[in-house]
Amino acid sequence: MATNWTPESWRNHEAVQMPVYPDAEALASAEKELSSYPPLVFAGEARALTADLAKVAEGKAFLLQGGDCAESFAEFHPDNIRDTFRVLLQMAVVLTYSSKLPIVKVGRMAGQFAKPRSAPNEDIGGVSLPSYRGDIINDIDFAEAGRQPDPQRMVRAYNQSAATLNLLRAFSTGGYANLHRVHAWMLDFMGRSPWAAQYAQVAQRIGDALDFMAACGISPETVPQLAGTNFYTSHEALLLPYEQALTRRDSTTGDWYDTSAHMLWIGDRTRFEGSSHVEYLRGVGNPIGLKCGPSLEPDALLRMLDTVDPARQPGRVTLITRYGHDKIEKHLPALVSAVKREGRPVVWSCDPMHGNVVKTNNGYKTRPFERILAEVRGFFAVHRAEGTHGGGIHIEMTGQNVTECTGGAMDVTQMDLADRYHTHCDPRLNAGQSIELAFLLAEMLNQEMKDRARDAA
Ligand code: PEP
Ligand code: CO
Repeated sequence: MATNWTPESWRNHEAVQMPVYPDAEALASAEKELSSYPPLVFAGEARALTADLAKVAEGKAFLLQGGDCAESFAEFHPDNIRDTFRVLLQMAVVLTYSSKLPIVKVGRMAGQFAKPRSAPNEDIGGVSLPSYRGDIINDIDFAEAGRQPDPQRMVRAYNQSAATLNLLRAFSTGGYANLHRVHAWMLDFMGRSPWAAQYAQVAQRIGDALDFMAACGISPETVPQLAGTNFYTSHEALLLPYEQALTRRDSTTGDWYDTSAHMLWIGDRTRFEGSSHVEYLRGVGNPIGLKCGPSLEPDALLRMLDTVDPARQPGRVTLITRYGHDKIEKHLPALVSAVKREGRPVVWSCDPMHGNVVKTNNGYKTRPFERILAEVRGFFAVHRAEGTHGGGIHIEMTGQNVTECTGGAMDVTQMDLADRYHTHCDPRLNAGQSIELAFLLAEMLNQEMKDRARDAA
């Protein structure tokens, strides 16, 4: 257990990117209310995820983490949850098949509400209001009342997370996630998209494998692993009063866990030495992520790993790199070689989203699909050169047919962005772009597995 740590010791550290609540009493009352609510996840589940991630760190599994940039109260609907879950499972099947590795599935879901912002205020037409920081904090509409941070929003976000998680648990184990169904969705999806013909062969081979297994008596009816799946939740642990209120002591081990999600990560803007966010997460037993961007020096990273993972526990830390397609090959090698030199058992995961945002002439924030892909390629190239494993991918996506990222086989153009641009924060890959990314990623993983086999021979 961490020394000199309590669930509130973050309050004595430097807290950035957090709202200033105008009414301290209202905040205290919301915190009190939340701390009496049931945990959303159990410590044993968080430990199971750590164990799964330890396999990823060893190169024996692959991490797929994805979901909304920001969940919202407005988009809260069972169909949205179902569709995002479904696309993640479809991606996982494609990745499992080509890598021959188990895929550890982690949603940016059921709690991914709070957002760091580049400026504390937003100025429009001479009016300055607090920036929108996610529905758990304030309202996206540019109006005085709604932009004031309201602590009761934490309670609403908790309730939405509980309902979302309940549905995800039902989907994962109640028969919906049966492997044969996932494959049938894939065929249906491919049947409807003209571009998908190029991937038909892989889909066909997956179908053949399933038929072969069924003929051998291996089916969802006989093998429970095919009838359901493990699905974990995660979010950025940004709003610390909320995380603290859901911090509980595990009755079996006596350790502290953040029961708001299985995995929590520290964003690029709050990941600095001495930050409240590092202080808070160092003390909880969940697996944690650290976003690594261009400002992170190798020595600082090693010191941070000493702080958050003194026991060097495999699977405890996932390093989520987010450099940009044109920077990754310059910056990543130094981090990878430092971490490798120290023998730290981390998971390396690629976030090809946050370093690749561009603003279009018509005023939209977008991410070109080719740049996302280029960053993923750069990520694998660096790991190949360093002799380490590219262990996972971290993406912002949705199961809806939005037009937020440009490119992809259906070729969303800058002009199309206005059609269905619904995100509350950053642009997400739509269902088609996500599945296409999985096929392209599968080719890269397949190559990596072949290279590894050759090296081992
Ligand atoms: C995010 O993951 O939504 C995010 C804000 O990322 P980063 O901290 O890497 O900028
Ligand atoms: Co984002």
